[in-house]
Amino acid sequence: MEEQEKAKTGIRYLKIGYNKVFGYYIEVRHSGTDKVPAHYVRKQTLANAERYITEELKEFETKILGAQEKIVALEYNLFTEIRETIKERLGDIQVTARNIAVLDVLTGLAEAADRYNYVRPQLVPDGQIDIRDGRHPLVERILRRELFVPNNTRLNHSDCEIMLITGPNMAGKSTYMRQTALLVLMAQMGSFVPAGEAVISPVDRIFTRIGASDDLVSGQSTFMVEMNEVAQILKYATRNSLVILDEIGRGTSTFDGMSIAKAVIEHIAAKIHAKTLFATHYHELTDLADDKIRNFCIAVKEKGKDITFLRRIIPGAADKSYGIHVARLAGLPKTVTNRAERILAGLEEGELTRTETAAGQMLCSEEQPVPKENAGMASIFGGSLSDTLLQLDVMTMTPLEAINELYRLQQQAKKEAGLG
Ligand SMILES: Nc1ncnc2c1ncn2[C@@H]1O[C@H](COP(=O)(O)OP(=O)(O)OP(=O)(O)O)[C@@H](O)[C@H]1O
Ligand SMILES: [Mg+2]
Repeated sequence: MEEQEKAKTGIRYLKIGYNKVFGYYIEVRHSGTDKVPAHYVRKQTLANAERYITEELKEFETKILGAQEKIVALEYNLFTEIRETIKERLGDIQVTARNIAVLDVLTGLAEAADRYNYVRPQLVPDGQIDIRDGRHPLVERILRRELFVPNNTRLNHSDCEIMLITGPNMAGKSTYMRQTALLVLMAQMGSFVPAGEAVISPVDRIFTRIGASDDLVSGQSTFMVEMNEVAQILKYATRNSLVILDEIGRGTSTFDGMSIAKAVIEHIAAKIHAKTLFATHYHELTDLADDKIRNFCIAVKEKGKDITFLRRIIPGAADKSYGIHVARLAGLPKTVTNRAERILAGLEEGELTRTETAAGQMLCSEEQPVPKENAGMASIFGGSLSDTLLQLDVMTMTPLEAINELYRLQQQAKKEAGLG
């Protein structure tokens, strides 16, 4: 229309615009107003232009503005029409959607099975789980620099009901336990599993207590959440459940935690008989091993201060956690890890003398106690103090650390001499 009007009137600076107050208008610069035809009706004067309307423009405007309303009405009609049509076939559509979803899951599992070499698990009713060369379906995909190391899992109600898993930090305990739970879950939902071979008995539930999280909003502390979860597990787990307990008792003092952990294992072994995987850093718990509770650990190779994670789960108990080593790998300042090593050495010494005396007292409670002076002499010259001194790295200590250490040693010496 703008082009038409320009041609008809011969006005160069003519344009059609729109605003909310006047609607559509024709704008002509003052320089062209002498050419404006008689049927243009002036509506507004601006600094350098006049604005007009014409009958034709107003008709056009009604059409356009009406169209907007018509569009909305049309759209709404179409929408309700579709809604009515859908309503008639609602059941069919829902069934189809559900079937497509099932198909999607199954083809997804089939594709993963084919692509990543899964095997068909053999399902048996006798309560055993026997997985050869099992892998964690996600971790094995995510690892970049390392290859995933497959592991076996054998759980049953005759000679291995509870696996007590110890091993260094970062060794792969949590991965191994979750992998077992995932494989059982996958097998039970009808999937192939990432393993060399798998014999799996369906479970009634898989219970897990993993990781630290707190629920501050509902008024529960980290440890409270942990204990609540353990309480649920002990209440509802049955002989046919699979229970995964990753380091329970970690969120409180060592002795409290260890006592709870031990009592929980004993309860599961005596009352529940659920197949259980239990990872722990409390090496003291490995004493629980019997004909159904078995110790396993994850192998590492130690070379000087370095360790290599072999990721292989083997029978037996680990005796160290290598926590400080992992802290060093994570980049804690050297002063902190060195100091931690010294503290650890001190603690281990202390614990040694403590348990030794305790054992000694138990063994010879009827006999005369060892004279105080002798006990002091023995440990100063043959035992803990000199060992602690030998382990000090004097060259890397700050003066303040040295004074602290000296003070601590003196306190220890006083205690051992019976003066503390
Ligand atoms: N079988 C495996 N093969 C290769 N890499 C593995 C394997 N298992 C675990 N890893 C790697 O080791 C890392 C640490 O494993 P995980 O968290 O299971 O250790 P952890 O023993 O539970 O340690 P923490 O005692 O600190 O809890 C994983 O993130 C993974 O990258
Ligand atoms: Mg872990």
